[in-house]
Amino acid sequence: MDVPVKQRSRAGLDFLGALQGYAGGVLQAAAAERYAQLETEPPAELADRRRSVNERLGDHGPWLFDRLFTRYVAEEIYVRAIPAAEESRAAIEEWLDVPEDAPGSLTLNPAADVPAYFHAGFHLTTGGWDGHDLMGVVIHDLGYRYVLMPGGVGAVRTGENLMDQRTQVAMEAPRRDYRTVLEVGCGNGRMLTALSAVFPGSETIGIELSETQLRYARARAVHEGYDWTLLQAPAERTGLPDASVGLVSIFTLFHETPPTATKEILREMFRVLEPGGDLVMGDIAPFERNGAFRSVVLDWETEHRGEPFMRSYLQLDLPSLMEEAGFTDVKAYGLNRGDYPWIVRGRKEGNL
Ligand SMILES: C[S@@+](CC[C@H](N)C(=O)[O-])C[C@H]1O[C@@H](n2cnc3c(N)ncnc32)[C@H](O)[C@@H]1O
Repeated sequence: MDVPVKQRSRAGLDFLGALQGYAGGVLQAAAAERYAQLETEPPAELADRRRSVNERLGDHGPWLFDRLFTRYVAEEIYVRAIPAAEESRAAIEEWLDVPEDAPGSLTLNPAADVPAYFHAGFHLTTGGWDGHDLMGVVIHDLGYRYVLMPGGVGAVRTGENLMDQRTQVAMEAPRRDYRTVLEVGCGNGRMLTALSAVFPGSETIGIELSETQLRYARARAVHEGYDWTLLQAPAERTGLPDASVGLVSIFTLFHETPPTATKEILREMFRVLEPGGDLVMGDIAPFERNGAFRSVVLDWETEHRGEPFMRSYLQLDLPSLMEEAGFTDVKAYGLNRGDYPWIVRGRKEGNL
């Protein structure tokens, strides 16, 4: 949605975007260079890398200010974006209020079995994904648009477009003729848009726990002409019938789930896939695929930027978990600089 933002609020958000861009683009680059000068044989293990970077850069101004600004911006996004959304409440509510009989559907389930880890307050959101009734717009049209697109976030570096990778991930699916495509953890529908572009003839289902994200996805679908079926359910227990989906797509979900949940979700995806169906996942590459400094920057998010499962995710052997869940032909590889997005894909034996 194109939110009408007042000049004062927009200036405040622009400031955060510029600050994040300076931290990520200038300070972090200086810190990376300094670390490379000081540590010619960086350690292999993640914990040792963390110790090494903290020791080597413990008094390095650019590193300390990069981290300070990154944390400050992450907190401040909501402090500024929520009042900015409130100023435009009437226009946002009008955009969200789409006719029930428009193509596609949204089925909310207030009694959904929400796992405890979901309430971790991801990305330092005030109150979590559903901490404010306009959180879909707050995150997407204010936070991403004004701050994180220009500034970068997580594995997406300053200056890179964090929307480009979704289409690339969808294109990694080996076929184009799936009857049904499912995305779990579909958020506000950004990946669903890419899936609809790559698989225009498929029925598209999005599953998500957050009501604000689902309401946003539904409004997006109606305004942009998609007939997505949107369901509020945990990815671990979708409620979908056995063998009912040709392709499962998962984008940037597993760095937000604890390993036990990740295993459960993979088992559930195997159950709902038709024989011969595919799963394609895109997320951050495991730590050993990133240089020592870069892996510590990502790992830092665990304790300082509301990504409680980033550390366990970075050390996860996803291909083995896929095989344990029953998948065959499992492949894992990176696209683009820094192996982002990292693709893990596999098949359920059989013929579609
Ligand atoms: C980083 S967002 C990615 C959203 C979307 N895939 C995209 O490409 O924009 C992760 C999403 O997963 C959702 N999520 C987290 N745990 C979930 C679970 N167990 N079941 C369903 N959705 C979940 C969150 O609410 C959030 O919207």
